[in-house]
Amino acid sequence: MKVKIGNEIKNYQSICWSTKGFINVIDQRKLPFSFEVFTARNVEETCFAIKEMVVRGAPLIGVTAANGLVLAAKSCEDKEFEEFNNILVSAANELSKTRPTAVDLFNSIQRIMKIVNKNESVRENIANIKKEAENLRLETIEECRLIGEYGNQLIKNGNRIMTICNAGALATVDIGTALAPIRKAHSDGKEITVYVNETRPRLQGARLTAWELYHEDIEHYIITDNSAGHIIKNGLIDLVIVGADRIVLNGDVANKIGTYTLSVLCKENKIPFYVAAPISTFDTTTRSGKDITIEERDGKEVRTALSVNNEQDPEPKRRTIHHSLSPNLNPAFDVTPSKNITGIITPKGILEQPLEKSITMLLENSK
Ligand code: MRU
Repeated sequence: MKVKIGNEIKNYQSICWSTKGFINVIDQRKLPFSFEVFTARNVEETCFAIKEMVVRGAPLIGVTAANGLVLAAKSCEDKEFEEFNNILVSAANELSKTRPTAVDLFNSIQRIMKIVNKNESVRENIANIKKEAENLRLETIEECRLIGEYGNQLIKNGNRIMTICNAGALATVDIGTALAPIRKAHSDGKEITVYVNETRPRLQGARLTAWELYHEDIEHYIITDNSAGHIIKNGLIDLVIVGADRIVLNGDVANKIGTYTLSVLCKENKIPFYVAAPISTFDTTTRSGKDITIEERDGKEVRTALSVNNEQDPEPKRRTIHHSLSPNLNPAFDVTPSKNITGIITPKGILEQPLEKSITMLLENSK
């Protein structure tokens, strides 16, 4: 992703290896006011990064967890196979407990754990795990590029596109899912405007998506979440594209809280509503959205807002915005029913209704 630093433009990815062999990630708690790198040196720090949302976004959570397993494996160089295996199983358990909704986390842990082969030496296992985690990282980038190619076909010159949360380069490794077609349309010279729902309570739209669009010079407006209905009803939006945390077999989609509301607004106002996702976001074992676990986060995220004194003093502080005597609710995701979705933009093409049938065919072809 492009980041403007003074007169220079630099290219960054959300995650990479440090020279010392640790995991370096962009600290997303600090953006947009401060660009800092967070280093995870072991599984515990990797779990912290996912849980505390130093990294977030379904595909990036998956890649981070895979790299966490690489750290666990590398800590076992001098161990016998049984101990190596126990350490990896326990690391996989800890990583699985960090966030419950994004299926990429579980898919990537399963993918890495599958290659732990009882007949090989520990050294060979470590090399295989490293290779598989790197394959996953590279595949994620390539899949986002392809999502951009397919999704761009839906975007016409002059289109006004709405999105929610951050499904950009920061949520993947690079490029993004919902932001991939937007990046591609812009680089092809189409004039587009993006309407970014701020995405309370953690403001991933206002803080992260707007930051990415600013650095790409893509015209955009941050809007309050509750103005989306007014804006859509008044004919200001041609297309909505959102990301996904889990897509189940009947086509129901879990994504950031507020996504369902946008889908209902689109249906009511006859606006196309698209979901963009890589293959790692498909849950091959769950039939219906009813069975997706929705993460409930700490109420302090609703009670407080992260803010800075001014743009020159970039250290964010949590400030209280409602009385602690009133309880609140903080579901982090919602489920959009399949019937509200126009199509799903994947690296293998755009899935159309009936989604259940299209998903079955996609998963058959991806085996
Ligand atoms: O709670 P978050 O910030 O991890 O939620 C992220 C989202 O809901 C994204 O839309 C989703 O993970 C897709 S990211 C390509």
